[in-house]
Amino acid sequence: MATQDHSQDHADLKLHAAQRALKLVEPGMTVGLGSGSTATLWIKLLGEQVRDHGLKIRAIASSEDSEKLGRSYGIPIINFEECRKLDLTVDGADEVAPGLALIKGGGGKLLREKIVASASKRFVVVADGSKQVEKLGKFPLPVEVIQMAVPLVSDELRELGFTPKIRVHADGSRYITDEGNLILDCSGLLMEDPAKLAAKIDSLVGVVEHGLFLNMANLALIACEKQIIERTV
Ligand code: 5RP
Repeated sequence: MATQDHSQDHADLKLHAAQRALKLVEPGMTVGLGSGSTATLWIKLLGEQVRDHGLKIRAIASSEDSEKLGRSYGIPIINFEECRKLDLTVDGADEVAPGLALIKGGGGKLLREKIVASASKRFVVVADGSKQVEKLGKFPLPVEVIQMAVPLVSDELRELGFTPKIRVHADGSRYITDEGNLILDCSGLLMEDPAKLAAKIDSLVGVVEHGLFLNMANLALIACEKQIIERTV
């Protein structure tokens, strides 16, 4: 019962953060749709504005799920052929550390999320207070890897001090990303120097992307019990 109440609190807090982020949207914008439960709340709020109040925006989605949800509200979904730069992307995060250093990818959408965020003039994180940390790494870092390279990349990640584990669904089957790759969830390392680690992981052949989002977010809207904290870099 206590656990249920706690998660409900988080749902309320996530909604508050999403509501605040909605205020950043202006007519005519091209926006990036994040993925995960907090981003989903934001997409629903945004979708209601489009469907019920005639808000004119267009969007690029960071996952098939978010695209489907956006379309269900009538949000026009475009791609990077049609527009190279987004005005605003709103997305969740698994951890938010000082300097707005993030771990993302708990939902497995890190690759497209990073593409969308990197093409955004403004990248805003929405989260509840439980996502704030002093150092990244308690949440296992997701690393997206080409399937045949998984044993090789796993060894390299162990060398770096991680304990990598292939992500699986509840039924034991492997989680496959939207791009057809596997995810290694890498635990066991509190990061003293995330930028150095990111560079090392980037250099591993077979790694497609990782969930360290550094120097990308401009603003984090962190919903706590009594207030929404606006954190900038
Ligand atoms: C998905 C993500 C999510 O943004 C992250 O996992 C946070 O999710 P939630 O809002 O459900 O807590 O990176 O790949």
